[in-house]
Amino acid sequence: MSEFEEKALLLTNNDVQKYVSVEDVIEIVKKTWTWFGNDEIIMPPKITTVMSSAGVDGWFNSMPNYIKPLDIAGIKAVGGYNGNKKKGMPYIKANILLTDPYTGLLKALVSGDYISDMRTGAQPAIMCKYLAYSTDTVTIIGAGLQGYTSLLYMTKLLKIKKVYVCDLSEQARINFISKFDGSDIEFINCNDNETACKDSDVIITVTTADADLVKASWVKKGQ
Ligand SMILES: NC(=O)c1ccc[n+]([C@@H]2O[C@H](COP(=O)([O-])OP(=O)(O)OC[C@H]3O[C@@H](n4cnc5c(N)ncnc54)[C@H](O)[C@@H]3O)[C@@H](O)[C@H]2O)c1
Repeated sequence: MSEFEEKALLLTNNDVQKYVSVEDVIEIVKKTWTWFGNDEIIMPPKITTVMSSAGVDGWFNSMPNYIKPLDIAGIKAVGGYNGNKKKGMPYIKANILLTDPYTGLLKALVSGDYISDMRTGAQPAIMCKYLAYSTDTVTIIGAGLQGYTSLLYMTKLLKIKKVYVCDLSEQARINFISKFDGSDIEFINCNDNETACKDSDVIITVTTADADLVKASWVKKGQ
C-alpha cells in the first residue's frame, strides 16, 4: 500500500451524519443537477448484479462517476437485501469508494446509507420545486424509509397542505404518519391508490414492489 493510500479515510454512517446536514444535501443535489446539465459529470449507466439465481436474495447496483467540479472519481455500490429486515437492518445498503481520478489511489471508503437515503429524498423535492405546477396535495405510495426521506425534504422546500399515505401495510402507514407528529399537514391514511392519486398534484412511488401502482387515468392533467 502506498503512503498516500495509508491516509485514506474510513467514514462510518455516524461520521457522515455528524458532518452532513439536510441543507447540505439540498445544496449538493441542486449543484449536481447543474453540473450534470453542463456535462461536468461523467456518469456511465449503472450495472445491476441480481444474485437471486445463485440463491442470494438481493441485488446491487454499481454506479461509477467522475465529478469535475469536485475533481473526484468513485463508485457507489447500493443494493436491496430482502433478508435485512429480519436482522433489523434497512432494506437498502450502500457503500461508496472514492479515488484520486489521476492515479486511482484510494481516498476514502464511506458508508453510503445516510447519503443514499438523503439524496434519494432530496431528488423528488427538488424536482417538484422546479417542475410541479402545484404541491398542495401529495400522494406517497410506499411508506418506508425512502418515502419518509422524500416527504421530509419536500416539507423543507415546498408548501404542502395534504398528504395521502398509501402502503400495503397498515402498520407502515401508521408509523409513517407518526413521524410527522406536530406538522400542520393533513395526513390521510389511505389503502386505495386510485382515490389518493386522483386527488393529488404530485404522486411519489417508492415501494419494493414490482407492480403497477398508478394508472395514467388517475393522474390529473398538467402533471
Ligand atoms: N433511486 C434511488 O436512489 C434509491 C435509493 C434507495 C432506494 N430506492 C428504492 O426505493 C424503494 C423503497 O426502498 P425503501 O428503503 O423505502 O424500502 P422500505 O422497505 O423501507 O419500504 C418499502 C415500502 O413499500 C411497501 N410496499 C411494498 N409493496 C407495495 C405495494 N405493492 N403497494 C404499496 N406499498 C408497497 C412496503 O410495505 C414498505 O412499507 C426500493 O425499490 C429501493 O430500491 C431507490
